[in-house]
Amino acid sequence: MIVPLLDLRAQHRAVGEAVLRGALEVVESQAFILGRPVEELEARVAELSRAAHGVGVATGTDALLLPLRALDLEPGDEVVTVPFTFFATAGAVHNAGARAVFVDVDPDTYNMDVSRIEAAITPRTRAIIPVHLFGQMAAVESVLAVAGKHGLAVIEDAAQSIGARRRVEGEWRMAGEMGTAASLSFFPTKNLGGWGDGGMVVTSDRRLADRVRLLRTHGGLKMYYHEEVGTNSRLDALQAAVLLAKLPFLAGWSAARRENAAWYDRELAGVEGVRTPVTDPCNEHIFHQYVIAAERRDELQAHLKAAGVGTGVYYPRPLHLQKCFEYLGYREGAFPVAEAASRRVLALPVYPELTEAQREHVVASIREFYGA
Ligand SMILES: Cc1ncc(COP(=O)(O)O)c(C=O)c1O
Repeated sequence: MIVPLLDLRAQHRAVGEAVLRGALEVVESQAFILGRPVEELEARVAELSRAAHGVGVATGTDALLLPLRALDLEPGDEVVTVPFTFFATAGAVHNAGARAVFVDVDPDTYNMDVSRIEAAITPRTRAIIPVHLFGQMAAVESVLAVAGKHGLAVIEDAAQSIGARRRVEGEWRMAGEMGTAASLSFFPTKNLGGWGDGGMVVTSDRRLADRVRLLRTHGGLKMYYHEEVGTNSRLDALQAAVLLAKLPFLAGWSAARRENAAWYDRELAGVEGVRTPVTDPCNEHIFHQYVIAAERRDELQAHLKAAGVGTGVYYPRPLHLQKCFEYLGYREGAFPVAEAASRRVLALPVYPELTEAQREHVVASIREFYGA
């Protein structure tokens, strides 16, 4: 039996007709850049994130870069973030002209260990980027408390966590609701994915939204007149139409992922060698990834591959050990939790269309490997 890590063709079989209808409208209008579908998507995604504004951009990477650029960072300015994340988080800090300062992650959730932020702050710190990794939110209220004390911006990297929420002082708060701004990605494999690249900045800060809007069109709102040097980072109307058609399904998809995750949790509970993912009790997880910590991880991955089961290692090398960040001066051992995680994590198929037979095959194959 074949169980891919993600089966986007199964999603397309289920919702393709509605998506094609939306896409065809754009094709017939021949209006491909920004326009009504982008504005409608911006309004809907901002509403979902309980933010006042949404600004569609070309990628999730730009959704990090443009709000950082709006902070007018200067050489030597620092941005505190985590080393256990997709490369874009720290890449955007570098490309915005600042220096990434890492703090280790929590061994249960792999999200920012908020108890370590204070020690990483210097007079040059300008912002903090907590990453809502794998689909559950970081303890953003604690990040905000430290940021407030030092007058820092908080940019939530919510690329993997659209629609995730967290209970803060008894109230549900959405990913993207509490930070200065949040970055979303619509890369095809995300819980809400387009037919290509796409991203969005959500924020309730009107001036920040206006600035990002300016930066995404070469720093000018009027054609051929430029207030500053920006870039071309617009969301395509075609992508917006695809995403608008898929958006009504997002909550159901995330619920189906949670259901698959709960099933795996139960079935893998007794398997020695496997630790199932830990959800912070304050969080509602959207399981962008279902990530176990596995003994003999690479052997298990090879065994599952031979059994037809697709898996993923997110991420095999923490960012402080990447060649391009050697100049930051970190050595192996600097962030032991992130380093240990990179040796043990393994993502299993958790996509909404996974059948019972498929998930049973995944668990049976894992049990077989560990002789459970
Ligand atoms: C945590 C995180 N940040 C940023 C990004 C960048 O998004 P994109 O691939 O849309 O540029 C991603 C996407 O892979 C991500 O997972």
